[in-house]
Amino acid sequence: MDYFSWQDGTLHAEEMRVSELAERFGTPLYLYSRAALERRYQAFDEAFGDHPHRIFYAVKANSNLAVLNLLARQGSGFDIVSGGELERVLRAGGTPDDIVFSGVGKTDEEIETAVRAGIHCFNVESAEELDRIQHIGREQDRVAPVALRVNPDVDARTHPYISTGLRENKFGVAIEDAPALYKKAAKASHLEVLGVDCHIGSQLMELGPYEDAVQRVLALVDRLTQEGMVIRHLDLGGGLGVQYENQVPPTPEDYVATLLRHVPRDMPVHIEPGRSIAAEAGIFVTRVLYLKPTDQRNFAIVDGAMNDLIRPSLYGAWQEIVPITPHDADCRQWDLVGPVCETGDFLGKDRTLALEAEDLLAVRAAGAYGFAMASNYNARNRPAEVLVDEDQAFLVRRRETIEDQLQLESRLP
Ligand code: LLP
Repeated sequence: MDYFSWQDGTLHAEEMRVSELAERFGTPLYLYSRAALERRYQAFDEAFGDHPHRIFYAVKANSNLAVLNLLARQGSGFDIVSGGELERVLRAGGTPDDIVFSGVGKTDEEIETAVRAGIHCFNVESAEELDRIQHIGREQDRVAPVALRVNPDVDARTHPYISTGLRENKFGVAIEDAPALYKKAAKASHLEVLGVDCHIGSQLMELGPYEDAVQRVLALVDRLTQEGMVIRHLDLGGGLGVQYENQVPPTPEDYVATLLRHVPRDMPVHIEPGRSIAAEAGIFVTRVLYLKPTDQRNFAIVDGAMNDLIRPSLYGAWQEIVPITPHDADCRQWDLVGPVCETGDFLGKDRTLALEAEDLLAVRAAGAYGFAMASNYNARNRPAEVLVDEDQAFLVRRRETIEDQLQLESRLP
């Protein structure tokens, strides 16, 4: 079911008119659907049936407190990559045992905080990091639970910036080096080996590479088991793609069925989906400021820009852009560009739309890596975020003000 749909000729978020929300909260604006978020989480959860599993939502996709809190209420765990995300999860109602900590560059301070908090598991990405966690564990006289993130050297066949499972990428430890490191970890006084972890990339549109990675990880688990180690979970990462354009991604059911085909019945599985839970649960709403047809291109200048939603500029990502209340003006090809002073500032190019000034547009599937990647470039205030629950709307992050931006800065005396 789609929680953003047209009723009476105008786009609704659940039961609310997007145009009214745009009036009430202003634009540009992120709008999320509670039901969509919960439904996507449940789709993964149900797909596992009675296979022991845990879902650790990848916080980086959308770390708004209300979003995290709704997922915590569903029973979700959280995959974090910074001390900031750790704090967000705890403040949103997650517990330390709900947290796994990934990331290639954990600082001492972040490791200290996470060890002290007693998180569920560190996904360790290098030999040096393993030593550092052991050292900090000893200092605190606490045993830190670890999994090694292995790099299986498979090509996820996705955008190069978000492909992580190739030997040439900075992530994880080479799968061939893992047995020696596991031995070392098993002997360390302040480490407890819990599992094996792997994540090969994001926006995966085919499951073949993922299946390859799962098989390579399972071969490693066999070897470790033969060597006498006990592996208590497999963390198979996130990465399932969503539909931005016409290409149809596998469903959560396909994704889970693919991995369960290979994993032994009694082996608990963890996954870390981010985008596939949050993306389709959100839209980005922007208003046309000016229409500027030229000999070369027709520009529709909108109030949302690359600082608010950077995916089109950064990855050349295509996201569907739809009019919120379609009307009968002439259809033309438009480049939808923002006010930021860069030619790379666009939300979409060559879109066939009937547009007039002040029209509202929605960029779809913007709930993941949308607000989370927003910045203050050009001293623009980041947008408000609103969460819709049936016929109610909650402002879950107010629009920034220039005072918010300036309060961290000072002039010389
Ligand atoms: N686990 C780890 C260790 C990750 O690095 C990531 C994403 C995930 C889980 C979640 O992946 P997902 O299920 O969301 O695909 N900003 C980019 C995406 C970056 C993904 C980084 N890592 C974009 O907008 O496409």
